[in-house]
Amino acid sequence: MFIGVVKMYLNTEICDLFDIKYPVVQGGMAWVATGELAAAVSKAGGLGTIGAGNAPKDVIKEEIRKVKEVTDNNFAVNIMLLSPFAKDIVDLVVEENVPIVTTGAGNPSKFIDRFKKNNIKVVPVVSSVALAKRLVRTGVDAVIAEGTEAGGHIGDLTTMTLVPQLVDAIDVPVIAAGGVADGRGFAAALSLGASGVQMGTRFVCANESIAHKKYKEAIINARDRDAVVTGRSTGHPVRNLKNQLTRKIDKLEQEGVDKEKIEEIGSGKLREAVIEGNIDKGSVMAGQISGMVTDILPVKEIINNIISDTIKVIQKNNEYIRG
Ligand SMILES: Cc1cc2nc3c(=O)[nH]c(=O)nc-3n(C[C@H](O)[C@H](O)[C@H](O)COP(=O)(O)O)c2cc1C
Repeated sequence: MFIGVVKMYLNTEICDLFDIKYPVVQGGMAWVATGELAAAVSKAGGLGTIGAGNAPKDVIKEEIRKVKEVTDNNFAVNIMLLSPFAKDIVDLVVEENVPIVTTGAGNPSKFIDRFKKNNIKVVPVVSSVALAKRLVRTGVDAVIAEGTEAGGHIGDLTTMTLVPQLVDAIDVPVIAAGGVADGRGFAAALSLGASGVQMGTRFVCANESIAHKKYKEAIINARDRDAVVTGRSTGHPVRNLKNQLTRKIDKLEQEGVDKEKIEEIGSGKLREAVIEGNIDKGSVMAGQISGMVTDILPVKEIINNIISDTIKVIQKNNEYIRG
């Protein structure tokens, strides 16, 4: 990365831990984070992640093949712990020598010994200090601190408050997720003590993302308050762009409809939006930072821009120092 005439990089603990050039992780997003997207991110020097979502083993095996075909660089698989195929995906990452696993939607404790024995680095997504502390005791290598600004399933705390509290509480690297899409957000995350960032929404709008054109356009057209939360009553809240579906769920939640019914209505809706482009009736999962994502770019450009902009922000902040 060139800044002026000096070749400058950002090198943090996670660059060595994951053996990657840039401390940028692409979120393991169900349906969106395919082998194509993960391969492009890993090839560009970040950590690409395949989102296993609720997909069965053979589907994810094919996505892993796609990454290995394009690059020898390290990549990760995100295992959604609520998936009926979670155990099969654990078998798969061991069989395929996947170097890094990130986990979402729950507690991966029961699989950690197996990952460790097979030299797989484990990085759970956490949204509270208590869970992070428990997981660190079981031997996880880093954590992804995901704030409530993020797209997809979320916790309560903001990235701004969660990251520094985690940094103080645990002794493994913390990766900040939720609300980061440019150099200002990245520099802020580093200031809070994070060793890198995970971005989801920004990478949905990459050329290499298979998300439907209408999905990407919905993010580009979104304004600051358009990414709303549905499903709080179910205990599994989701951040997605306001549309017919979110209004319907809101109404039913206000009427006190059973959580099973709400979950049933949300089922299959991410696929409908990502693959079929039904952005009115599908779930357009995206974060609060959508209001700032205004273009579709190649992955390489997204990564190079954010690294060079982060360095510029850090350099500019240094200018405030007097004495
Ligand atoms: C469309 C979409 C699907 C997602 N699916 C998952 C998932 O399956 N597993 C997971 O751990 N996180 C998932 N996430 C969260 C991302 O991995 C990432 O942590 C989050 O998007 C970061 O916040 P940002 O959207 O503000 O960049 C998803 C996010 C989006 C936008």
